Amino acid sequence: MRTITFDIDRFDGTRSWTQSYAFEYDPTLTVLGSLIRIKEQQDPSLNFTASCRCAICGSCAVRVNGNAVLACDTRLDTVLKQWGADTLHISPIGNFKVISDLVVDWGDKIERLRSAKPGLKAKKEFSADSGCQQSPADFAKIQKQWDCILCGSCASECNKLTDNDRDFLEPFVYTHANRYAQDSRSADGMVHVKEMVKQGLWKCLHCMECVTKCPKQIAPAADIAAMRAMAFAAGNTDGKGPRHAEAFRTDLENTGRLNEVRLVPRTEGLIDAATGRMGFTYRMLKHGKLGALEAAELYLTDNKPIEGIDGLRKIIRYERDGK
Ligand code: FES
Repeated sequence: MRTITFDIDRFDGTRSWTQSYAFEYDPTLTVLGSLIRIKEQQDPSLNFTASCRCAICGSCAVRVNGNAVLACDTRLDTVLKQWGADTLHISPIGNFKVISDLVVDWGDKIERLRSAKPGLKAKKEFSADSGCQQSPADFAKIQKQWDCILCGSCASECNKLTDNDRDFLEPFVYTHANRYAQDSRSADGMVHVKEMVKQGLWKCLHCMECVTKCPKQIAPAADIAAMRAMAFAAGNTDGKGPRHAEAFRTDLENTGRLNEVRLVPRTEGLIDAATGRMGFTYRMLKHGKLGALEAAELYLTDNKPIEGIDGLRKIIRYERDGK
């Protein structure tokens, strides 16, 4: 008989421990089905949340070997094969306060979601009689964001939240904000963008964990990028984030290459750019991120444009000016 073992992180409000549960392999089980089997047959005190069992309610997200998954939508076989082992570590999703075992607290997350003003204030042209319709093409722009089921998987693996959650929100909050910001029926999409600018829109580290972990294939990082573009277009260019993006684009337009040595002073807004470049260059050299010759070239000369720069400039102009 093949035996599977779940090492499950337990918490009773004061004490934390890891408990092992062995059960017979069954190819029909999901991760959630396995947890239910353990609860029903071995330990009724094990706590976890689930409801729909069909990837709709979003309440069953847990971590398997440190990676968030939707337990009801993840076959046991899939994760056994993925990790190449019959023992898996099951823990609550990360960046959440744990209430009991695998149950996490959504209270403050919902408060943070409210800060995105997730609601539609429709344009004046709509009325109770005319309705509030939009074209299929306009709906397609926000369709993916509507798929969010608030499972918390994106927040669980967000490295920025783990580092510091005081100046950044859960990735799903940005997705919900963008859903209303991009809605063609909205009277003023910038209402949501402005709030997000105040709350970390430019602080994303681009680790892309939110994109790879979303069970609905939503890309919160793309929502962040879309709202940054809206903020830029509306003239909201103050701060390190916008300056960094602008310096990035200028480099690409000039030469097609990023000049890391110059990027930092322009981002940081140093008055004495030469000093900043030297300090940054020194740190890059010290950590082996830059070779001496490369540093000298970056420091002393302009890069030559890459081959095909005209095509790249055309793309950048089209993105910026729409022509
Ligand atoms: S139980 Fe509802 S999404 Fe998994």
